[in-house]
Amino acid sequence: MEITTFLPQAYTENIDNGTVTWKSPSNIALIKYWGKKEDQIPQNPSISFTLDACATTTKLSYKKHAEKNDDFSFDLFFEGKQKDDFKPKINTFLKRVESYLLFLKDYHFTIETSNSFPHSSGIASSASGMSALALCLMSLEKELNPTMTDEFFNQKASFLARLGSGSASRSIEGDLIVWGTHEDTIGSSDLFGIKYPYKVHEVFKNYHDTILLVDKGEKQVSSTVGHNLMHNHPFAEQRFAQAHKNLTKIQSVLADGDLDEFIAIVESEALTLHAMMMTSMPYFILMKPNTLEIINRIWKFRQESGTHICFTLDAGANVHILYPENEKDEIYPFIQEELVKFCQNGHHICDRIGFGAKKA
Ligand code: DP6
Repeated sequence: MEITTFLPQAYTENIDNGTVTWKSPSNIALIKYWGKKEDQIPQNPSISFTLDACATTTKLSYKKHAEKNDDFSFDLFFEGKQKDDFKPKINTFLKRVESYLLFLKDYHFTIETSNSFPHSSGIASSASGMSALALCLMSLEKELNPTMTDEFFNQKASFLARLGSGSASRSIEGDLIVWGTHEDTIGSSDLFGIKYPYKVHEVFKNYHDTILLVDKGEKQVSSTVGHNLMHNHPFAEQRFAQAHKNLTKIQSVLADGDLDEFIAIVESEALTLHAMMMTSMPYFILMKPNTLEIINRIWKFRQESGTHICFTLDAGANVHILYPENEKDEIYPFIQEELVKFCQNGHHICDRIGFGAKKA
């Protein structure tokens, strides 16, 4: 599919004002996106579980100007308070999507947004935040052009969300999403996320993700800086090739419910992501001593209990613990007794696989 697919058609309706609200989830990558080209094109395909509890709710109110403005006009409220320091990020996003949404300078927008998780939790809100905003803008576009199909609505929402933050393209639908062109995944695209199109074993329904908040501080490496580290990285090409191979491999794992192989792919992906950061120039160690302590305890417990607990990491110190529903009665008490003490103030979030964004 070409970028031109998302250029707007002439609008058939005239809308003066209105409001729309979307609640959009975060997601956790099993095969990681790390490295991008210009215009938010990923260097490799990725696949994620859509989450449920970690979400951003965004209300967009729009009021048409008497005449088209020269610039974007909007107010931004985060958790009820005017937040001018978030405005440049939104402004950059609006500039990136301007040619795909011709109405942006016709309206004054009020954006009211809040997260289900604490802002300072170290959980990135860019995936849920950018996807929620993209969905709100798409709802207005659909009012202006009501013949739009639901399929196109979701695709374009993902396309726009990607221009805000790459991983946000995977937060429109659920429960498993692939983003990035992959030779063995039919319909996959660098431009937007798609629902994973193949068979998924029952064991992956209702999968749990308990997020351990090891370090709630500001991110040491912003995602832009992080992705740039893959330019001229000595292992970049091998890493991108590995992600392609892992995505092919995970297909039979997801179909057959092969949890041992699932664990091997997911943990290797997490450690590879961190290995990329440790071997880039400049280099970073984003794990904390408690991250390692948690990983070692997960490995020990897995061996002793014969359960299928495993971990994954984002570009930070927090640990996502993944496990199937039918093992939760054994695994969750272990997390509470042995792992929560390594979290900052004991903070953790019990999340699970979810089914995508919802209009309020
Ligand atoms: C480590 O989507 O935050 O979480 O496109 O620059 O906004 P930008 O990056 P972002 O990168 C996320 C990287 C990751 C892995 C992943 O989610 O696949």
